[in-house]
Amino acid sequence: MRWLIITLLLGLIACKKPPKDSPPASNNTSSPTPYTLQLPPEFPVMKIREDNPLTKEGVALGRKLYYDVRLSQGGPMQGHACATCHVQSFSFANNAAGVSVMPHVNLGYSNAFLWKGNVQGTLEDVMLFEVKDFFQVDTAYLATLPEYPPMFKAAFGSETINHKRIAYALAQFVRTLISGNSKFDRYYRGEVMLSDAEMRGMMIFFSERGDCFHCHPLPLFTDYEFHNIGLDSVFTGENQGLYLITKNPADLGKFRTPTLRNVALTAPYMHDGRFATLQEVIDHYSDHVKASPTLDPIMSHNNRDINLRLTPQEKADLIAFLLTLTDSTFINNPDFGPPQ
Ligand code: HEC
Ligand code: HEC
Repeated sequence: MRWLIITLLLGLIACKKPPKDSPPASNNTSSPTPYTLQLPPEFPVMKIREDNPLTKEGVALGRKLYYDVRLSQGGPMQGHACATCHVQSFSFANNAAGVSVMPHVNLGYSNAFLWKGNVQGTLEDVMLFEVKDFFQVDTAYLATLPEYPPMFKAAFGSETINHKRIAYALAQFVRTLISGNSKFDRYYRGEVMLSDAEMRGMMIFFSERGDCFHCHPLPLFTDYEFHNIGLDSVFTGENQGLYLITKNPADLGKFRTPTLRNVALTAPYMHDGRFATLQEVIDHYSDHVKASPTLDPIMSHNNRDINLRLTPQEKADLIAFLLTLTDSTFINNPDFGPPQ
């Protein structure tokens, strides 16, 4: 019975699953080794750009660059690696950066990046922005480091180091950062049971009671779209969100939906890190949603109160469910950590 309800509530993904892609065959022995992405069975196929197929050498290069502080040498982010702010134990976010760092988890599925949607396109496009505009990587300097030219040759066929190749290698590594082995996933695959509180929280999340699943759908727990969830009623400065990029008044106060996978690890919450705990986030959805012309219609679905008015018990249950989204396999996977 329990399974039937869940299947009915969540039954969107299974039927839409596209056929599996097979990697292009290669007879050339000197070309890089294809890398097969290991996806959980309930995940859709990830679209990968034809001009940047995953290879073992490309992923290894991306991983080395991600963890290398020399990537920022001489630039405005001098002394930082990507991994300085994007820390594996926090699902590649960080609770000590003083800003709301976005996690790197299942990001290969997204086509819109950064809280305000500054970059639309593929992971390669946002990586080019990070490498060129944010880090302003000094490619001539990297070429003087003995380990890099051979790694670029192994990954891309020649020793040339440029922003595009750095971005492509980083994109390959970040595509491999797949999280799909949380307690919830194991429950979904029929491997473990959830507690009563976790079950009750799940029912709130996936039903009209909480309506969370409309914007945080399975299996990624984000729609990768932009919404105004009523954090503010007037919008100034950064809080104008997507509007700052599109200049369309309909986009005022809209931000990219973050994934809720590993959400217990990614405090502080929201684009400006205004909430320190999940309790504060749930209190927002329950009691503090503010009306404005661009408030998402889902927030007043079926003409309901824009606030959910959850009981203390319902709030505790919802948090218990959110905690089942933590994937300890992901944060401890040695393949995602610093290279030896
Ligand atoms: C100083 C801390 C810091 C460093 C260093 C850093 N990031 Fe970030 N990263 C952030 C913050 C903060 C955000 C959210 C910023 C925003 O949306 O305005 C972010 C967002 C991102 C996103 C968007 C994720 C999404 O879900 O849309 C990507 C991709 C990214 N960073 C990649 C990188 C890469 C690659 C590097 C290294 C070249 C890097 N970052 C270095 C702090 C950092
Ligand atoms: C209308 C779409 C929408 C609905 C419905 C919705 N969310 Fe969100 N959620 C978002 C967006 C967009 C953000 C980021 C907003 C921002 O930073 O300004 C967010 C942020 C969050 C965060 C913070 C995550 C982080 O890493 O910062 C949590 C936790 C969360 N939502 C949980 C929930 C829960 C639980 C529900 C149901 C009670 C819910 N959401 C309903 C769109 C939605």
